Amino acid sequence: MSFDLVLFGGTGDLTWRKLMPALFQAFRHGKLPPDGRILAVARDERSDAQYRQYIRDRFVEVDSAKRPSDDEFARFAEMLHYRRMDLSQPAHYAGLKTWLDARNADTVVMFLATAPYLFSVVCEQLGIAGLNGPKVRVVLEKPLGHDLASAQEINRVVRSAFSETQAFRIDHYLGKPAVQNLMALRFGNALFEPLWRRESIANIQITLAEGLGVGTRGDYYDTTGALRDMIQNHALQLLTMIAMEPPSTNDADAIRAEKLKVLRSLKPFTPESVARDVVRGQYKAGTVEGQAVPGYLDEVKVPAGSHCETFVALRTEVQNWRWAGVPFYLRTGKRLAGRHSQIVVNFREVPHPIFPGSARANKLVIKLQPEDGLELHLLAAKGSAQGEMLAPVSLDLDFDKAFESERVGAYERLLMDAMAGRLNLFVRSDEQEQAWRWVEPVLQAWATDPNGPRAYAAGTWGPPASSAMVARDGCAWDEEQ
Ligand code: BG6
Repeated sequence: MSFDLVLFGGTGDLTWRKLMPALFQAFRHGKLPPDGRILAVARDERSDAQYRQYIRDRFVEVDSAKRPSDDEFARFAEMLHYRRMDLSQPAHYAGLKTWLDARNADTVVMFLATAPYLFSVVCEQLGIAGLNGPKVRVVLEKPLGHDLASAQEINRVVRSAFSETQAFRIDHYLGKPAVQNLMALRFGNALFEPLWRRESIANIQITLAEGLGVGTRGDYYDTTGALRDMIQNHALQLLTMIAMEPPSTNDADAIRAEKLKVLRSLKPFTPESVARDVVRGQYKAGTVEGQAVPGYLDEVKVPAGSHCETFVALRTEVQNWRWAGVPFYLRTGKRLAGRHSQIVVNFREVPHPIFPGSARANKLVIKLQPEDGLELHLLAAKGSAQGEMLAPVSLDLDFDKAFESERVGAYERLLMDAMAGRLNLFVRSDEQEQAWRWVEPVLQAWATDPNGPRAYAAGTWGPPASSAMVARDGCAWDEEQ
């Protein structure tokens, strides 16, 4: 199968930080057909040789184990091409079509790694130029809108040129091995399914914590905030995978239909419930992993007095028979205690405890990063001289170790899936719009709330109000248990 991959935004951050390293790994793993072509498109004039050098230079920022040797890069670079395009010029798309037609590859993937305001013009022009035939796929990278209306507008334009099955909306969390494992855990094993419901589960916690701050992206981040940046997409996608009903098949639409049902079952927010069930925070100066770091308002390109939230914790429920009344707590933030992302499924207490201290003994921890694994927490008898003392123990599975060389990074996986036309790990437009519909009342309530976000010191787990919110239900965040 021959392919052409066109990277719009070919000199941008996403291309050299994520896409090129992922493509190189795919090449190294022998997954790219050697006659495939990768065409980077951007505004300025450069030759293929200059572009290859530009990418070569940027590989110094990549993990040393994932960096190519000179020889490897020379072979990889044979696939790389460059083309100057003014994205508003129809003639430039006609030129692109000539370049692509000369080869007539089996699959053409258009990856829009550009600023989102360019999505409309690129999709429109691709359609006009006839670059939207059945073998063409378009990959869109977030942010896909900043609210429901803007997301709908992007989807309208994409739909005017491409069918839904040609549209690959990336949520890179879906490419993470741990997230795919969640599907395997639930639907490849008989063990947990009978327990996966309100009768056995007390609450579910999804934490996506970062130790890093906003870095040099202060201007972008300030117009986005944690709710749009992490909750509307990544955290909600994880929630759907935890809460969805078993799909009838492993096909993209069977899975996405079940995920959509979960999103539609989420308890809607009202101004009162936003005040009660959502906590927003902003980091002040503090210490993260031994390093003193500045507060958000002192980061570069952050406007003075900004009310942008760098932390969100919220409580929701999935209103259906399986989950009625079970709290789902979602939490994300920058400059928290460290990089630490996990889903904790807390099981209910035994109905009649005969051992002291046996309350809430069981939990399943699905670890996303930095490690990728599973922990099942149980109580066991210590067998000590003091009688029947119970102690918590855990069964640990480390997937990185178990599958070592076979695990691939999120972007590598997603790029390969887009080329192969597998839509399972991509977000359908109705899912994406429903996620916006759900977060919108929160955005609206915040817009009229003069109080702004609560302060938290960098290096902590966010504002104390986040713990208080969970404590109201008699629960605690995992690190406080
Ligand atoms: C991106 C957000 O989608 O995800 C970033 O825009 C965030 O702000 C990143 O840092 C986190 O991704 P990961 O894979 O490092 O957890």
